[in-house]
Amino acid sequence: MVDKHAGKVIIIGNQKGGVVKTQSTNEISYNMQQMGKKTLMIDFDSTSGLTERTFPGELPLTIDRDPMGNSFSPGSAHAFQLFFTDTEIKPEVLPDGRHIFGSTNEIGEINYRPQDCVFDFKERIDALREQYDFIFIDSAPDYNNLLIASHVVGDYLLIPTLLEKGSRIGVGKQLNYMQRIKKNYNPGLQFLGTYITQAGVQSYSQPLLDGYLSPVETENLRRLYEILQERNYSEDKVLTLISWVKNLAKEAIELAMTIREYSPASKPAVQYQELTSKILRLIEEDTHGK
Ligand SMILES: Nc1ncnc2c1ncn2[C@@H]1O[C@H](COP(=O)(O)OP(=O)(O)OP(=O)(O)O)[C@@H](O)[C@H]1O
Ligand SMILES: [Mg+2]
Repeated sequence: MVDKHAGKVIIIGNQKGGVVKTQSTNEISYNMQQMGKKTLMIDFDSTSGLTERTFPGELPLTIDRDPMGNSFSPGSAHAFQLFFTDTEIKPEVLPDGRHIFGSTNEIGEINYRPQDCVFDFKERIDALREQYDFIFIDSAPDYNNLLIASHVVGDYLLIPTLLEKGSRIGVGKQLNYMQRIKKNYNPGLQFLGTYITQAGVQSYSQPLLDGYLSPVETENLRRLYEILQERNYSEDKVLTLISWVKNLAKEAIELAMTIREYSPASKPAVQYQELTSKILRLIEEDTHGK
């Protein structure tokens, strides 16, 4: 068993936009909470997709105290506050039990601050670990203070990806950044794995490398394996494939629901649950091995 409130930090990142970082953060963290794990999400993307999807109407005043004003006035549930040691911090509590520190685009201001703020962030996260089993950080495809901060506190990196070339390059870049920050600041950080977020499955009964995907996507998957192998990771690091289902995620997002809430029997809902169980198993094995 993972110790209660041992507070593992999981970064969701890929140096390519639109690869389903935000939706998968939402699905996996929701499943964790449903499995009885106390879960916190932090929105680290200045496009604030996670925050906007979580609060499709008006943002809570705890995230933006002065929504109509011209000044930046982050509240106690804004991720910005985590970069100081003396601010009031209090996440928003969601009806499903998860907690969230949201963001508005002003979170980008952190990237113009002296890098010391990264260590203040670490101090805040280390205190928060006591209250949660898992802390998820939805990150942006940029190398900046926010990315460095997430990797300085992270225990595990998960990389959602598509199979096309740009996303595969994003996987490689994300791994390079991770290894660089790991070496310099956070030797405990580990690459937990990658998962394909919109797999166009042709035949569920065929083997993965022989007919499961189209010939082009099968070749793309081989090339993803090569990117992993170049960095000494095995094919096992591809944890799973989530099926592409027309309109499903879009509809769930429009209703501010997870895919599992919107359509519990759908392939992606079931696949995300299997992925969550696999992630928990890998983390348990890792913590026991230590
Ligand atoms: N299983 C799926 N099948 C089909 N479409 C999907 C699936 N999962 C997610 N999508 C679609 O993929 C789109 C991108 O997802 P998301 O916004 O989570 O990506 P992102 O990596 O966070 O993007 P950004 O870089 O803009 O933050 C969503 O609009 C969603 O509708
Ligand atoms: Mg996003």
